[in-house]
Amino acid sequence: MGTLVHDNVQRYYGSLVHVDRKTSAASVQSSRSIPPSAFNALQQIHPHVCKRYTGCGLVVPEKLQGCKILDLGSGSGRDCYILSKLVGRTGHVIGVDMTPELILASRKYIRYHQEKFGYEKPNTIFVQGYMERLDEIGIKKESLDILVSNCALCLCPDKRAVLKEAFRVLKDGGEFYLSDIYSSVAVPETLRHDAVLWGEGMSGALYWRDLISLVKEVGFSTPYLVTANRIVVHNSELQRKANGISYVSATYRLFKLPSNRIRRSAVVVYKGTVPDHPDHLNFDALHSFETDVEVTVDAEMASVLRSCRFSNDFSIQDTDTPVPRQHCTSHCHLNPFLLADRFLKKDVPKTCEERRPLNSII
Ligand SMILES: C[S@@+](CC[C@H](N)C(=O)[O-])C[C@H]1O[C@@H](n2cnc3c(N)ncnc32)[C@H](O)[C@@H]1O
Repeated sequence: MGTLVHDNVQRYYGSLVHVDRKTSAASVQSSRSIPPSAFNALQQIHPHVCKRYTGCGLVVPEKLQGCKILDLGSGSGRDCYILSKLVGRTGHVIGVDMTPELILASRKYIRYHQEKFGYEKPNTIFVQGYMERLDEIGIKKESLDILVSNCALCLCPDKRAVLKEAFRVLKDGGEFYLSDIYSSVAVPETLRHDAVLWGEGMSGALYWRDLISLVKEVGFSTPYLVTANRIVVHNSELQRKANGISYVSATYRLFKLPSNRIRRSAVVVYKGTVPDHPDHLNFDALHSFETDVEVTVDAEMASVLRSCRFSNDFSIQDTDTPVPRQHCTSHCHLNPFLLADRFLKKDVPKTCEERRPLNSII
């Protein structure tokens, strides 16, 4: 099903041993601290795998032991191998990528990591295929606990198809943990035909508000914004072409909620039982659950906590108490540009108004 866009992207990522990125996307520092287990896993990844990393975030959610995870656009496999360590010998990781060179490159290190992690047999496979057509590579509906994707959705011409497939293959209560590049406005059609701009994720980046409507249309929960960083475009030619559009790398978590869910708010108490997070669980930029502290959450968050893999880590009591509003209705709490600037301790406007592009940052 490859289109011209797919062919260009394959050439862009397949031909070079070390992709020369023209933006800061692959080198952004996470504003969220890396949990010790993820940090230790990262230290054990083969340097050749890390060298070809071209993601724009850290797609390592909490509590992965025993999970079955699919990485969409797995590239050289860095994130798959981190996850391979964290899911343990009873878990399973599948990396899907359309670029044959990267599938071959990632497969070369399966044995290395299996031995490094002390597993009797590998728990990771890499499959060549399209994120839009997971059925073609035999990924069954409702077969996965978690999906991750690191800087690949922005390269896909048909985002809706990818998100629909993601929704299909996730189990109820499953999570899609998604790091990607987003734009400050919808990218004009005229920029879509430039192979380098597309390869850098700048032409295909979703306007962040469009992500919210698209994922909800497909059936996911409202996305929860975890972290965000401004992207700097080093290349002056690309800067010129982008013509004032700003970019950010951001991580959102989306959940597939059961259709028969209870739609009531709840008083929840985090038990401190998620590994690496004894004192609090930073669920997203808005919700940090302190251990043993009661919090009233809205109906959607209550459904997420009741149905996802954290359900046993919370005590959850339905309530009719109205939830104090923590955010405005026009989704400014989900605006990754505002969050990125807050992390930079900039003077962030209190309203949803978009910031003007900063001088050297687009
Ligand atoms: C920017 S790279 C990121 C790779 C990897 N996630 C990482 O963090 O290093 C994007 C990857 O997505 C893959 N990709 C892009 N579009 C795809 C599609 N439609 N189906 C499958 N893979 C795709 C590319 O081949 C490339 O390896």
